[in-house]
Amino acid sequence: MTAILETLALSKTFTLHGRGGMQLPVFAGIDLSVCPGECLALTGHSGSGKSSLLRCLYGNYAASSGDVRIRHEGQWMSLATALPRDVFEVRRRTMGYVSQFLRVIPRVSTLDIVADPLRRLGVGADAARNQAAQWLTRMNLHEHLWHLPPATFSGGEQQRVNIAHGMITSPAVLLLDEPTASLDADNRRVVVELIHAARASGSAIVGIFHDDEVREAVATRSFDVEQHRTPL
Ligand SMILES: Nc1ncnc2c1ncn2[C@@H]1O[C@H](COP(=O)(O)OP(=O)(O)O)[C@@H](O)[C@H]1O
Ligand SMILES: [Mg+2]
Repeated sequence: MTAILETLALSKTFTLHGRGGMQLPVFAGIDLSVCPGECLALTGHSGSGKSSLLRCLYGNYAASSGDVRIRHEGQWMSLATALPRDVFEVRRRTMGYVSQFLRVIPRVSTLDIVADPLRRLGVGADAARNQAAQWLTRMNLHEHLWHLPPATFSGGEQQRVNIAHGMITSPAVLLLDEPTASLDADNRRVVVELIHAARASGSAIVGIFHDDEVREAVATRSFDVEQHRTPL
């Protein structure tokens, strides 16, 4: 099986501009590759750089050196040198990301937030809303919440909106940052099933799973970010 996502000697050092340009090295020399159908779990203590690595994979953080490469529409693309509009296209068609926290858009209803990734792919308004409703039902989000913006939802409710939004297009590459952190046991189980289904349909997944039980249920492999920490 050929990979769909890989990193080449990837390193990340933050420059703290508010602190006289102080350098904060996080990780260095990361080579990883992920194939369709795999779920790679990133491990390491809090602060070891797991979320930063995931953000580099998504092109949210620029690599300090090295590269992230993704197979997009049959062609390898380098995120280090990609134009912003190419990164935008990769995110629209190939790569989804479920962040730890929902970025709430004021005044937009939950249903429209979840339907939005489908609308961006050209799906009609009604069909997109129908699918969004199915996802929200699957995520056990009460129907009376669908027409409200999620700004005032509980952490667990927002997380479920986030998961539906990130998974609704079944992206070929799916990045998950602690998707079950504020969910109860029933909803954790739903997410585990969704991850299994995504893998079965050929998605490549890279995730951070704070819950050991969830990680053991979904991961096909682990990658310890801690081992690549830059010594301070
Ligand atoms: N945008 C940022 N600017 C500066 N430092 C950051 C930024 N994001 C993360 N860090 C720092 O990088 C380190 C790794 O953080 P993070 O990737 O969130 O770790 P983890 O997800 O493993 O807990 C931490 O020391 C954190 O403070
Ligand atoms: Mg984190």
